Amino acid sequence: MYRITVPATTANLGPGYDVLGMALSQYSVFECELSDEIVIELDGLEKEKLTIENNLVINCMNKLFEKIGKYPSGYHIKITNGVPLARGMGSSATAIIGGLLSANALIDFPLSKDAILELATEIEGHPDNVAPALLGNLIVSTKIDNGEIVYKSITPFDELMCVLFIPDYEISTSSSRGVVPKSFEIRDAIHNMSHLTLMIMGFMTGDTNIISKTMNDVIHEPYRKSLILGFDELKKSALDAGAFGFALSGAGSTVIAFCDKADVERVSESLQETRNMLGIAGKVKKIEPCRNGATCEKID
Ligand code: HSE
Repeated sequence: MYRITVPATTANLGPGYDVLGMALSQYSVFECELSDEIVIELDGLEKEKLTIENNLVINCMNKLFEKIGKYPSGYHIKITNGVPLARGMGSSATAIIGGLLSANALIDFPLSKDAILELATEIEGHPDNVAPALLGNLIVSTKIDNGEIVYKSITPFDELMCVLFIPDYEISTSSSRGVVPKSFEIRDAIHNMSHLTLMIMGFMTGDTNIISKTMNDVIHEPYRKSLILGFDELKKSALDAGAFGFALSGAGSTVIAFCDKADVERVSESLQETRNMLGIAGKVKKIEPCRNGATCEKID
């Protein structure tokens, strides 16, 4: 039997729309083994919302079997979901990577990590969540003209901590992408290119001052903000409490503050107070970056 563990992710980090993502230490687990028939078990967080019909994990397993042309006669898979759905924490990326790695293990690992990433990106449409879910760390990635995914991994500095406010309400990625304009003024493109490049250098060197000055996006957050309850108030409260960055996590509805470990309690309490004051249902959660990415272990 194989146990595959896949982290949640936060994409964009402000100016890195569809380019940058970071793995978070919160996981979904996929346990699978060959069997005479197909048996699918669903468990974990929000399991009442998961269905066996049209299940993304199973669809991705079938895609890999189809690509290789090798189908096991049956398998047993238990999916223990650990990532809230439609909240901007990469639940679909976790499901895609979990499904592809499970299928790959069941037919003796025909695909390399890079081939898995390519297939995952084809399924998801952009690599910014699937790349860190597979590889861990902070990943800058893009698909170049020949279809290849080019990426670079940055290990987040030791003191980096994240505080997330995960609202109870969901936002579908497609509706959140629907409010982002299709074209921009050149000055907005330059704003994001310069901010993103400098911010990445800040994450590479642990320069929180440069991160605080550059985690400011002008191509998606200003448009998506209207879908997010209390975005400006939550941002102010996190920054006032010592966070050096604040962003919409992926397509939302979660928001994420970045701070030093030393400030994590203050930032968390401040977000909690603001959430209470605004009366928005949800959870404030402290989560460390995940440095390993997805793992696949053989178990008895
Ligand atoms: N980069 C994507 C977005 C992440 O912001 O829409 C969600 O899939």
